[in-house]
Amino acid sequence: MLSLTDIAENPLRLTRRPNAEDGSVVVFRPLTHADSGRLADFLAALSPASRRFSTFDGYDLAHARELCDAIARYDKLRLVLEDGPSGRIVGLLELGLALVPSDIARYRSAGIRLDESTDCRFGPTLADDHQGRGLGTLVLPLVAETARLLGRTRIILWGGVRADNPRAVRYYEKNGFRPIGSFTEPDGSLSLDMMLDLHPGA
Ligand SMILES: CC(C)(COP(=O)(O)OP(=O)(O)OC[C@H]1O[C@@H](n2cnc3c(N)ncnc32)[C@H](O)[C@@H]1OP(=O)(O)O)[C@@H](O)C(=O)NCCC(=O)NCCS
Repeated sequence: MLSLTDIAENPLRLTRRPNAEDGSVVVFRPLTHADSGRLADFLAALSPASRRFSTFDGYDLAHARELCDAIARYDKLRLVLEDGPSGRIVGLLELGLALVPSDIARYRSAGIRLDESTDCRFGPTLADDHQGRGLGTLVLPLVAETARLLGRTRIILWGGVRADNPRAVRYYEKNGFRPIGSFTEPDGSLSLDMMLDLHPGA
């Protein structure tokens, strides 16, 4: 089983170049310490709508540095999508390897016992100009492969998905996530919990 340290020491182990239908070249790879400037550009360019759907603690260089400093230090693996020709970061895919009590409680009330040794949390964010073009679907098998290499057999959504984010809900549904339940956000809006079972070879 791979560890976060193994990945940080050898990011090429997880680097992939999936074939996009439109011929565009994209690189899927772990975030590295050298990425802070490009990650800051990615975060800073996210629209208010994207920031509402994928909320980060900051959208500037300081936060990008925090994310790069956190590599292999905590319980999160961050992967990026890089536009091949330009080297621009056009996506950030987060895998959380620790579960939080609120997730555990919500899933338990839906009859599902989460287990930190087999479950992980997934949060994808694409640059606005790369959303709705099939890129998220193209790279989901690579995320699943990564989760399996980390010993995980199920993926849940990181903080759920907002019910008023129809593109993301459709994205998860069409890629095999099943609905588990719903909950109310602090602002009163509705979010959905969804889960993907990683069957061998899926
Ligand atoms: C969510 C996200 C990762 C999905 O990746 P993506 O590459 O845009 O998704 P895809 O293009 O592969 O699939 C989107 C699907 O939603 C459909 N869709 C797009 N807009 C839609 C809408 N308003 N209502 C319903 N379906 C919609 C697309 O047609 C496509 O389905 P189809 O292939 O059956 O036609 C990406 O859009 C994103 O980063 N969004 C902003 C941040 C975000 O919402 N993150 C998720 C937080 S839970």
